[in-house]
Amino acid sequence: MDIITTPKEMTRYAEKARMAGELIAFVPTMGCLHDGHLALMREGRRRASIVVASIFVNPTQFGPNEDFARYPRTFDRDCDLMRTVPVDAVFAPEVAAMYPPDAQTWVEVSELTQGLCGSHRPGHFRGVTTIVAKLFNIVQPHLALFGEKDFQQLRAIQRMVADLNFNIEIVPVLIVRERDGLAMSSRNAYLSADERERALCLSLALRAAREKHR
Ligand code: PAF
Repeated sequence: MDIITTPKEMTRYAEKARMAGELIAFVPTMGCLHDGHLALMREGRRRASIVVASIFVNPTQFGPNEDFARYPRTFDRDCDLMRTVPVDAVFAPEVAAMYPPDAQTWVEVSELTQGLCGSHRPGHFRGVTTIVAKLFNIVQPHLALFGEKDFQQLRAIQRMVADLNFNIEIVPVLIVRERDGLAMSSRNAYLSADERERALCLSLALRAAREKHR
């Protein structure tokens, strides 16, 4: 598995792969990988000849009082997990390489990002769509895979791809859950036993609603 740290090197890798006729699947992540991420990578493996994943804790999608500084960074363990898929290349740039100090350009999906998560995380989706657009330009994938767990994010990215004419297929992948129904998330590690118990009410309520609807 190649570990690539500069945008230039990453683009060179992608261009070489495209020239050789390879089909590139891309899975952007912030690391601290779990089975949900690996499901995205395995789906990419099934659909393409090259799988590229990125690990980048993107500062612009965190609010000033959010967990950017303490977001778990587990690069060596993540690489071991990605080798099991296997992933062909991991792009893991430094913040300065992605956001030069004189950068002034943002990518923003205006309406879909209002409400839900957007209403209590101002600026979050602008950070997400900006970094994903930059990663798409650098990695040049044919397809990119996103989990349905972050459904608003998925819809915003689909909108951005359509609006900005990215020639990339967005592949949604089903939520991967713990045995008791909790959706897998890197941030589940923050939950106390009591909070984890209470978080379950979401999947229980969704299941109950589905049963009632049948
Ligand atoms: O879903 C995530 O992990 C992030 O929002 C993403 C898409 C990697 C952008 O930083």
